[in-house]
Amino acid sequence: MSTKYLLDRDRVRELFDLRGSYMAKMGGGYEDDPNPVWHELREQAPVHAGTVHELTGYSGPAFFQGLPHPDRPHFSAFSYEACAAAYRTPELFASSLTPVDVNNGKVAALNSMLSMDGEQHRRFRALVQPSFIPKKAQWWILNWIEESVGLLIDSFIDDGHAELNVDFCAAIPVLTITSSFGISVEQALDVRAVMNRRPEEIVQILEPIVAARRESPGDDLISVLVNAELANPDGSKQRLTDAEIYSFSVLLLMAGSGTTWKQMGIVLTALLQRPALLEQVRENPDLLRPTIEESLRWAPTDPMFSRFVTQDVDYHGVHMPAGSVLHICIGAANRDPERWENPDQFDIDRPLQPSLAFGGGVHTCLGMHVAKAEMRTGIAALLERLPNLRLDPDLEPPRLIGMYERGATEIPVLFG
Ligand code: HEM
Repeated sequence: MSTKYLLDRDRVRELFDLRGSYMAKMGGGYEDDPNPVWHELREQAPVHAGTVHELTGYSGPAFFQGLPHPDRPHFSAFSYEACAAAYRTPELFASSLTPVDVNNGKVAALNSMLSMDGEQHRRFRALVQPSFIPKKAQWWILNWIEESVGLLIDSFIDDGHAELNVDFCAAIPVLTITSSFGISVEQALDVRAVMNRRPEEIVQILEPIVAARRESPGDDLISVLVNAELANPDGSKQRLTDAEIYSFSVLLLMAGSGTTWKQMGIVLTALLQRPALLEQVRENPDLLRPTIEESLRWAPTDPMFSRFVTQDVDYHGVHMPAGSVLHICIGAANRDPERWENPDQFDIDRPLQPSLAFGGGVHTCLGMHVAKAEMRTGIAALLERLPNLRLDPDLEPPRLIGMYERGATEIPVLFG
């Protein structure tokens, strides 16, 4: 890797701007704090008819291609209990209404285990799970994370100032996941551009890598996918088809690069706005773990995921016909005062209990330990190498924005 600028900064900015053209379609135009409305909605009832953005009062574009399934009834859950129970009951709240046909000719993240249920989901998830267990965090850190973090800090340390959201937070996960796929640094941003535009074009980038790993496997994720053996119900096993490998890859590349950068920006924003806490964490880096956990509870970057209702049900007092869509508002669940005292307060000393930031049940985020390792390694290195790190008082301070993809605006800092 080159040492000065790892990635073209202007291009990173264009691809990772929450207010840019792609993200605007995902609700990036929403600039308020949704939590006061979510508190009101939760107090009125745990479950409401309607989508989260409509109920929040946001009328701008919130989904990439319009509301999915506009002809179905939509409901949204806001209490911790209603959200957690929906996650725990996949027979009633399913990820898809029909089994996924991965070999249907479409390369897409939705054409993967993300949309699978039951046995099909279990078989596909089992193929990659071993690469994402907590014990593997060190493999990710040593192979892919530490070096990128170090080189990124090298690229701005002599300037005395930096913009951390894009130049640091956005770059780390995209470099981590693409290099774990054997994709070169030069092509890392092409992957993000393709993901924003036409995910099926990823095939052109991956095809030569898949062919090379079939010839000679390496210690990377493509080799894992190429060698994976899917267990059939009759006990026989088979290698993944190319279509299965490509859709799996799109899911991992998308989930791996699109989320962690925003969450890391949220952690940094929370810390930089609380200089005393920042100092405490700098002096005792062990506090980074509870700080990251608290940021995930306080402001999960993706505050809503959806499920299909498989049969007529009365759920928390609301009748939902089979075929409806239930939106699980994990952002609201994570601030439910029934579970967390003073939920709006950012408090790293609160007793730790799991939040729904990484979802729940069988689809709980596969990459959560990688995401936490990236945030820990990145922020620990910033605190260690940049003395007197602080917000630049002459520039606009960061704010959290976005409806379904929440994250920080620019994070301008000074140091030294
Ligand atoms: C802070 C960063 C992250 C957050 C907040 C996050 C959040 C989530 C959530 C809430 C889900 C559940 C979706 C649902 O219920 O339908 C999920 C699923 C998933 N995540 Fe993450 N994620 C993060 C980082 C990552 C990373 C770094 C990777 C990969 C390297 C990843 C890979 C996945 C995959 C593959 C799934 C689908 C799991 C399944 O369907 O069984 N995520 N993530």
